[in-house]
Amino acid sequence: MRGSLALLQGKGVTTLTVCVAGSFTGDRAVRAYTTSPLFTGKPIPVIGRFSLAGGSLKIPDTARNPRGLALEFELPKNNIHHFTMLNVPVFGAATPSSFYDGVIANTPDPATGKPDPEKVSSYKASHPDAQALGEYLAKNNPVSSYANSDFFSVHTFKFINKNNKTTLVKWRFIPHDGVKRLSDDELKATPTRFLDQDIMARTQAGPVRWNMVLVIGEPGDEQNNSTVYWPSNREEIKAGILTLSSASLQQGGACEKINFDPLVMAQGVAPSNDPVLLFRSPAYADSYAKRITGH
Ligand code: HEM
Repeated sequence: MRGSLALLQGKGVTTLTVCVAGSFTGDRAVRAYTTSPLFTGKPIPVIGRFSLAGGSLKIPDTARNPRGLALEFELPKNNIHHFTMLNVPVFGAATPSSFYDGVIANTPDPATGKPDPEKVSSYKASHPDAQALGEYLAKNNPVSSYANSDFFSVHTFKFINKNNKTTLVKWRFIPHDGVKRLSDDELKATPTRFLDQDIMARTQAGPVRWNMVLVIGEPGDEQNNSTVYWPSNREEIKAGILTLSSASLQQGGACEKINFDPLVMAQGVAPSNDPVLLFRSPAYADSYAKRITGH
């Protein structure tokens, strides 16, 4: 890590996203919960994208913002399934309108280049749903590498098995190399752009892996509010291994033309009624169209 950080200094790397490719092998034990073809024990090709929330070139890789990992699983018979995850366990808004209020309150004032502190504090006071994410980001320094980041489903999903039984689930991906965060001193010394070059160097040196862990919900667990995490004693099972073996800058890469809509899913998995999850699909379609056409 240190070596690759030093290499980057002064290179002026300005991309914010990187395409990755590899495979996912889902554990057959998960078939007790879902008929999803993700969990057959056979490797499934994956195309993905790492990103830094916010999508602006002005946001440095050291920002206390979530990082994203979006995956497209290329299933048999031309089926696809998406996981569009963040490296935080909860979201900062229970509803789309609360998210919108947060965007407005945190938009920099053109005169100062910074959000208006009064607007930010009145937003915080009136939006308790933003508190859990705010506390998590304040307590957990940004990760030192995408390869050392965990990633969470954030939302609750429904797994449906061959007997039509529905189980509420969340999941997270745990890096084999461990979760590693920048220290306060490293945060001050680290170049503003390092995440993309780092993951390209890491995958060139060898495959980078994560375990998928499935968290099994219990009846009555919150399913429609992604600002609330479940109690820590929920059953967890290992659900598979993600192996990423190559990474390249997004421009011209395999992920560039993918809209990682989180509602793209194959059989055996269904969305909860979380209003934020349901809102994401049309929002991503709109943003994707603008991104691809340059408007
Ligand atoms: C109302 C809430 C939300 C809105 C309006 C929103 C909006 C967006 C938009 C417009 C994009 C860019 C899509 C594109 O151009 O392809 C995006 C990307 C992304 N969002 Fe959200 N989002 C919301 C909630 C969430 C939540 C809860 C998560 C947590 C898992 C999340 C994770 C991501 C990730 C990982 C990306 C990057 C995906 C990629 O690489 O294509 N978002 N979001």
